[in-house]
Amino acid sequence: MNVAFRRAGGTVTVGGEEAPLRAAGGDPNVFAQRLFTGLPRRYDALAELLSFGQNGRWRTEMVSHIAATRPSSILDVATGTAGVALELVRSTPAEVTGIDLTPAMLARGRERVTRANATERVRLVAGQAEHLPFADATFEALTFTYLLRYVGDPAATLRELARVVVPGGAVASLEFAVPRSRFWRSWWWLYTRLVLPAAGYMTGGREWFGVGRFLGPNISAHYRRYPVDWTVDAWRKAGLVDVEVRRMSLGGGIVMWARKPES
Ligand SMILES: C[S@@+](CC[C@H](N)C(=O)[O-])C[C@H]1O[C@@H](n2cnc3c(N)ncnc32)[C@H](O)[C@@H]1O
Repeated sequence: MNVAFRRAGGTVTVGGEEAPLRAAGGDPNVFAQRLFTGLPRRYDALAELLSFGQNGRWRTEMVSHIAATRPSSILDVATGTAGVALELVRSTPAEVTGIDLTPAMLARGRERVTRANATERVRLVAGQAEHLPFADATFEALTFTYLLRYVGDPAATLRELARVVVPGGAVASLEFAVPRSRFWRSWWWLYTRLVLPAAGYMTGGREWFGVGRFLGPNISAHYRRYPVDWTVDAWRKAGLVDVEVRRMSLGGGIVMWARKPES
C-alpha cells in the first residue's frame, strides 16, 4: 500500500514566506516532511494553540458534513496524528483509512488509534495526496485538513482527491483562512505574527517557535495566490458539485464541503 516518495531529514529553516521552500529545494513534499517530522509529540496540544483554540470546533463542523451522509468507508488525507480519523470513527459507522506523507506523524497516529481501541476501524498508510495509491471510486467519503498549503499544485491535487471518491460520495475539508474584515484581519495579523511565535516558543521550544513564525506568512501567501473563490472553482473543476463554504471564528478557519455527482 505504501507509495514511493522522497525522504527528507534534518531541521527545516523557517522565517519569511518563500525561505522555507527554498531551503527544501523547492519541493513541497520535502518541505512538509521536514516541517512535520519534529512535531508529532506535542502536535495535538499545540494544534489547538496555533488555531486560537478553535481547531476542535472546525474539525467537528467538517466531520458533521461527512457524518450526515452515513458513509461506510472514508479516506482522511493528511491525517497526521489521526485526530480527524478518530473523530470520524466516533461520528460515523465507517472504516477509515488515513494517509499522510510524514512517517513520524503516522507513528504518533498509530499510538493514538491503539489507545482509542480503534485499530479495527482505522488503518494508517504512508503516501502522497498528489498520487493516492487507491483505485478510482474507492471511498464513499473523503476529508482533508490543512493540506493544500503544502502541495505544489492544489488544482491537480483536488482532482486526485476527487478521483478516489464514489459517485454520490461526500468530500469535506478544513483549513486556516485570513479574515475578510479589515478590523479582524488586523487582529489576526498581530496574533499570527507576534503571539503565535512567542506562544509556540514558550510551549514547544525552538521547533514550535519556527512553526509559529512560519504559519501566518504561509497562510497569507497561500491565499494571495489561491483566494477562496479560486479554491471553490478548483473544487468544481475537480468534478465536485454543491460546493459550500463556512467561514468560522471571525474568518480564521474555513470549512468546505461538496459531493461528487452520481454518474
Ligand atoms: C497540520 S497537519 C494536519 C494533521 C491532521 N489532518 C489534523 O488536522 O490534525 C498537516 C499534515 O499534512 C501532511 N502532508 C503535507 N503534505 C502532504 C501531502 N502532499 N500528502 C500527504 N500528506 C501531506 C503532513 O505530513 C502533516 O501530517
